[in-house]
Amino acid sequence: MALLPILRYPDLRLHKKAAPVTNVDAAIRKLAADMAETMYAAPGIGLAATQVDVHKQVIVIDASEDKSRLLTLINPEILSRSGECEGEEGCLSVPGIYETVKRSQKVTVRALGLDGKRFELEAEDLLAVCIQHEIDHLLGKVFVEYLSQLKQTRIKNKLAKQARITA
Ligand code: NI
Repeated sequence: MALLPILRYPDLRLHKKAAPVTNVDAAIRKLAADMAETMYAAPGIGLAATQVDVHKQVIVIDASEDKSRLLTLINPEILSRSGECEGEEGCLSVPGIYETVKRSQKVTVRALGLDGKRFELEAEDLLAVCIQHEIDHLLGKVFVEYLSQLKQTRIKNKLAKQARITA
C-alpha cells in the first residue's frame, strides 16, 4: 500500500468529472486500498479518487468512531434522499476550513463493492453527509462551492497564503 498525495483546493483538477469504473479489477482494489490508507493517515472520514488525481468513480469512507467500518463505493449513485440537515463540513483538499453546508439527512445509495457486486445502502446523518460530500467530488464539486462567492474568495486567499508559507 502507499500514501497518495492529496490535491488542494483551488487546484483545477478537483473539478474534473470522474468516469465510471468498467471493471472492478486488481488495479481498482489497489487504488481503493491506497485511498483508505491515505484517508486514515490524514486523518479523514472520506476520500474520493478525484482528490488523489485519479478520475474514476471510487470513494472510501469510514465515519465510525473507532475507525472499524471502512466502506468502499464504486460508481455510487444516490437513488433517493429525504430530510434536511446542516452541519460543519471539512475536506482533506481544503485543510483547516470548516463551514456549514445543508444536505439531505437520509440517502439511499447504490454502488459496486470491491467484489464487483452491486449493493444498496441506506445512510443517515454523518454517514449520509459524507456520502453526499464524496459523490460531489466525483462530479467535480468541492463543498466550498455551496458557500457565498465572498466566502469562496476568502478561502482561496487563505489557502494560497498557507501554500506560500509551507512551500
Ligand atoms: Ni472532501
